[in-house]
Amino acid sequence: MHNLLESALMKDYVPHDHRVAHQRAHIDLAEQLKGIRTVFGRDGNGIVAIHGIDRVRDALVRHIEEFDVVLEQFLASATLDPLDPAARGRPAVDGMIGYRAGGTGFLS
Ligand SMILES: [Fe+2]
Repeated sequence: MHNLLESALMKDYVPHDHRVAHQRAHIDLAEQLKGIRTVFGRDGNGIVAIHGIDRVRDALVRHIEEFDVVLEQFLASATLDPLDPAARGRPAVDGMIGYRAGGTGFLS
């Protein structure tokens, strides 16, 4: 789910180099998990599996720091502030303003 959601978000707002490296990192995490499952299925050694999960957990923490935080920054910088007058006139912003005007109305 993490991969699908992030891939969809990255499509329009994230530089190609980050997209490629980020998606490669997702594949690396998935391969590590698959390796744990394969070894555990073959040997049934829970201790080895637990150590593998520890390594994947550490890799996931690094992934969040190295890729997900950067992705969040790309998306935040690409997101328009509807209160910024320069953002007016863009369909997404005007649509949001119209929606709010019909409901809570604080942006109108
Ligand atoms: Fe990610």
